[in-house]
Amino acid sequence: MTEHKSSDTINIKELRIEKLSENNLKFTEVFDCGDDDLNEFLKDDAFHYQKGKIAVTYLCFYMNVLVGYYSLSNDAIEIKGKAKKILDKLKKRQRTYPAIKIGRLGIDKNFSRIGIGTKIIDVIVGCARVHSNSVGCRYASVNAYNQPEVVAFYKKNNFKILKITGGEEGDTLLMYRDIIESG
Ligand SMILES: CC(C)(COP(=O)(O)OP(=O)(O)OC[C@H]1O[C@@H](n2cnc3c(N)ncnc32)[C@H](O)[C@@H]1OP(=O)(O)O)[C@@H](O)C(=O)NCCC(=O)NCCS
Repeated sequence: MTEHKSSDTINIKELRIEKLSENNLKFTEVFDCGDDDLNEFLKDDAFHYQKGKIAVTYLCFYMNVLVGYYSLSNDAIEIKGKAKKILDKLKKRQRTYPAIKIGRLGIDKNFSRIGIGTKIIDVIVGCARVHSNSVGCRYASVNAYNQPEVVAFYKKNNFKILKITGGEEGDTLLMYRDIIESG
């Protein structure tokens, strides 16, 4: 296995994404994005969630090193007046609108802040656009940690805050992005 440190430059175009499977499950053992819940989900739960069709997990490799992962599900979000442009064109407003949910996203801490998370968001949005031609899907959604660097990351990737979630602590924010017309 090739050793890489964050100081190395990596070519984002050489990132490879694979669906989690029995063949690549072993790579999850040493993954560390700096968040215990996200690490444990990948090691212990992701495969079961996938088998149960609750969330599908994808692994992102750089030269056979697992550098990130994300899990996707379907979602329905209440956007009310916030998507006026679309809603005005519909005959009847809906209470909720279809979205692809980023249930989990983590980048190995040795590879953070070099654009891998942003690349993964591009891949997710690109896939969602393709799938939206078969199954309706207009938005991407995420329950983001209410931490400045995480919110900055999603805002930089065109997500907006919809509401504070995570109970009384307000430790997560529901954020969303239009996958067809961003900005
Ligand atoms: C948040 C996370 C997914 C970002 O992934 P990443 O690959 O490091 O992000 P990128 O390199 O694409 O960064 C894009 C932007 O995000 C913001 N950002 C990312 N990490 C940041 C940090 N540590 N401090 C401040 N801003 C940060 C910046 O705006 C950055 O742009 P810039 O470098 O030009 O300033 C990653 O750091 C991570 O896995 N964190 C731990 C787990 C977590 O919190 N996941 C999110 C769960 S909702």
